[in-house]
Amino acid sequence: MSDNNPTIGGYFELELSQRKHYHDGALRLNTARNCFEYILLARNYKKVYIPFYTCEVMLQPLHKHNIAYQFYSIDKNLEPVSIVKLKKDEAFLYTNYFGIKQMMVEYLANFYGNQLIVDNAQAFFSPRLEGMDTFYSPRKFFGVPDGAYLYTDVHLDYNLPQDTSMTRMAHLLKRIDVSAEDGYEDFKNEDSMLDNMPILRMSKLSESILASIEYDAIKLRRRDNFIYLHSRLGDSNLLRVSVDDGMVPMVYPYLQSSTSLRQKLQEHRIYVARYWPNVEKWCNEHDLEVKYMNQILPLPIDQRYGQNEMDRIVKLIRI
Ligand SMILES: Cc1ncc(COP(=O)(O)O)c(C=O)c1O
Repeated sequence: MSDNNPTIGGYFELELSQRKHYHDGALRLNTARNCFEYILLARNYKKVYIPFYTCEVMLQPLHKHNIAYQFYSIDKNLEPVSIVKLKKDEAFLYTNYFGIKQMMVEYLANFYGNQLIVDNAQAFFSPRLEGMDTFYSPRKFFGVPDGAYLYTDVHLDYNLPQDTSMTRMAHLLKRIDVSAEDGYEDFKNEDSMLDNMPILRMSKLSESILASIEYDAIKLRRRDNFIYLHSRLGDSNLLRVSVDDGMVPMVYPYLQSSTSLRQKLQEHRIYVARYWPNVEKWCNEHDLEVKYMNQILPLPIDQRYGQNEMDRIVKLIRI
């Protein structure tokens, strides 16, 4: 069936409005880890410096292509503890943690030039800096089954097939139709279906959903919620957080000393992720990364919520 000869009439598809992609000029691929793989291949990197404090799936392309990597540590402000002298065929991967580290991205871009790879999986709204290989994972911000955006100036000479996403939709549908709890197993299964996939173009389904979103309203809502939580919780937050101009975070990272607060929130149906359980395997128990994994609560501030929900969270934390 050809896209050159589109259908007219017949039954309807899922009704989605047709706006624009937020990252309109980026390549559209299937996952952020595969954007990373694309860069590794297109630039022919032989070694990558990668933070201990990141998601395990980022190793998939390195293992697949047998590319050397070396972990580096971060400091209490989520910044690399030291600067590395890179060889020509080496890259430095930095994560824009929680969407609040754009200043550090700018600093590292000045230092490493285009050997920096910016992981904006947690920073959908942070702009690409000119010349920097930068990728995004929209499903951390919106209800899409998969998809990723990549900005790069180097291109692989492959004809990439297009992904399809319809078998990964159950969690999105169940969360609306049944409940968050009922869709959770589907979410985990469907997320793990993305493991070790080949590099593909973003599915039409994810493209359509992402082109239907009202990004401006979402940016405002996220910022307002973040600023609100910071005004209520900033004084007890052990992580230094500042609200920079234009910053649109993924979550409000609240660092606290209790290890039971996550559980308490969960008992009240407030679900807070743990970034990232794999860190425990890679680090020693006294390392900062392990502490951050256990003690940073990434509090939801997303577009589904407003002041009422933020107050529910604050009340539980403050008692
Ligand atoms: C910081 C970070 N980078 C990259 C990824 C990978 O994104 P994707 O699942 O789209 O490959 C994740 C998590 O999944 C992540 O947390």
